Amino acid sequence: MSEDYEELARREELRVDRARSKRVKDEDLFKTLEEVFDLKTVMALYQMINSGPIDSVFGAVKAGKESRVYWAKGKSGEDLAVKIYLTSSMEFKKSIRQYIQGDPRFRDSKDHRQLIYTWAQKEFKNLSQAKGAGVRVPRPIHVHQNILVMEFIGDGGEPAPMLKDLRDGEVDARIYEDVIGMLERLYRDAGLVHADLSEYNVMVHEGKAYFIDLGQAVLKTHPMADTFLSRDVGNIIRFFEKRGLNPPDPESVIKWLKRQ
Ligand SMILES: Nc1ncnc2c1ncn2[C@@H]1O[C@H](COP(=O)(O)OP(=O)(O)OP(=O)(O)O)[C@@H](O)[C@H]1O
Ligand SMILES: [Mg+2]
Repeated sequence: MSEDYEELARREELRVDRARSKRVKDEDLFKTLEEVFDLKTVMALYQMINSGPIDSVFGAVKAGKESRVYWAKGKSGEDLAVKIYLTSSMEFKKSIRQYIQGDPRFRDSKDHRQLIYTWAQKEFKNLSQAKGAGVRVPRPIHVHQNILVMEFIGDGGEPAPMLKDLRDGEVDARIYEDVIGMLERLYRDAGLVHADLSEYNVMVHEGKAYFIDLGQAVLKTHPMADTFLSRDVGNIIRFFEKRGLNPPDPESVIKWLKRQ
């Protein structure tokens, strides 16, 4: 598989700029991709480079248990974030079902690979729905199989810091208001509950909060929506409290979000 792919890449003059890869230093990016992803995924990525929105792929920004996020460049030289979901994790399959069942926009599937594809579609749809309502999220650009292409939040391949990474002095009332304002738009205008909101899924770029990682976000009509909303609000309030602010209690924030 490795040789086949290298040959293919050579033939089509696939451009992979290894020298500029920041995180995957001496590794051959595509060899790494082959180790992590199956042939179908590597071919889908290749297709996106050949005739889709991607021009070249650099190193991994982040390697998680369920996905990897890569810094890439688009056809006009713009930075892109490419999130690729792993199709192999059985744990993941178990945990994502509850967010797909009960959402009329998507169908559950017994096929593992199909379920992961649905998950990528779901993140794309949620990002579009949030963006359309004016919530600051990475602009979704393309989705195919288990690969999601979106706007890169950060500079020169360096992702913007997460809310958790801000120094105490930077965690102020202004950023609190911004996060709560985004939460209000997400709930009231986009009709979504993030369902994994915390300081680990909010990026801060040029002083503004961006919600990321919207795969598990559900419609507010989802049977578990209220449970997820309480958890999200609780996480956010706890974070700002821990960092020395004096936010209102979660119950009053939830009441305010749900006002008529
Ligand atoms: N649009 C983006 N632009 C720049 N960096 C991004 C973007 N989306 C994600 N990242 C980076 O990749 C990391 C993981 O992204 P995300 O939270 O969507 O994936 P995940 O699989 O849920 O990972 P985790 O399990 O750590 O939450 C983020 O913390 C962030 O550093
Ligand atoms: Mg995340």
